Amino acid sequence: MAKLYGAAVGSDEGVLAAAAALRAGAVIGLPTETVYGLAADATRPESVAAIFAAKQRPSFNPLIVHVADVMDAEELAELGDLGRRLAEAFWPGPLTLVAPLRRPSAIADLATAGLATIAVRVPANLVAQQVLRAVSFPLAAPSANPSGRVSATTAAHVLSDLGDRIELVLDAGPSAIGLESTIVAIGQRPILLRPGAVSREALEEVVGGRLGLPGSGARPDAPGMLRSHYAPTVSLRIDATTVDPGESLLAFGPPVGNANEAVEVVNLSATGDLGEAATRLFSALRELDDIGAPIAAMSIPERGLGLAIGDRLRRAAARR
Ligand code: TXA
Ligand code: MG
Repeated sequence: MAKLYGAAVGSDEGVLAAAAALRAGAVIGLPTETVYGLAADATRPESVAAIFAAKQRPSFNPLIVHVADVMDAEELAELGDLGRRLAEAFWPGPLTLVAPLRRPSAIADLATAGLATIAVRVPANLVAQQVLRAVSFPLAAPSANPSGRVSATTAAHVLSDLGDRIELVLDAGPSAIGLESTIVAIGQRPILLRPGAVSREALEEVVGGRLGLPGSGARPDAPGMLRSHYAPTVSLRIDATTVDPGESLLAFGPPVGNANEAVEVVNLSATGDLGEAATRLFSALRELDDIGAPIAAMSIPERGLGLAIGDRLRRAAARR
């Protein structure tokens, strides 16, 4: 079982243990402000391979490479003008940029899945920052969940899903945002590959125009945009306006009229706050999954963070 380290900011023990494990090539559970990641040295092929093995992820799926600041990012990726503008506006923070890989590259091919592009991000979480600065190599880190399943937003989620497959989990408390980063591909026209914690509206303000959508060009979609993803083991239906017999309810705002008939009710935000709903989404899915009843999910307004929440729920609901 993985060793669990507390990592309150300022306490060194956990960060030092994490850095030592990473230097030895190990895979660890790493907190970020979005979700917990499964991190390893992005320059070591065997370490990156160990991430795929732990996650049981199809190996064509490239990973996000995490660095401490924009200068480190520029060493790995050709951000260009637009990339730098986006970095300035949103880093450190929950935005991932997909940009041309700068060659020659120290990054293991397996981390980029051999693509000519690389996904980079500068996390804001202070513990993640401390670890990145302690190791001084980039960290490949997908979300710390078995491939296709619900993402992890607490150290306990990581332990229960992957604790027997990794060495160490750093616990920095529940993820502040609770939803993965937004992924934007930099190109002729920037493309929103994955809606996420930075809203489309906020990005478009900096870009000064509309973002393109995946599938519209030759560029490969983010493979994490697999139709079925983020899935609980029980079935889930979306846009529910009533609860059917035997279902649990994933509510948002005032619950549906017959909510009292639900096996269990979890409300993402009773007040209809999208930020609160984002932080609770993956924990709520896990909680309802543990109960075992099929889930009826109420609809979420498609604005701001609601776009990303709706995206995750649609994928969780997709036929597998
Ligand atoms: O918030 C996050 O982004 C979290 C935390 C841990 O940082 N990480 C995360 O990683 O969500 P993951 O591996 O679950 O999702 C990464 C996504 C995948 O959909 C992958 O296909 C896409 O990034 N991606 C990575 N490199 C890419 C590339 N060169 N081109 C297009 N998509 C890429
Ligand atoms: Mg993921």
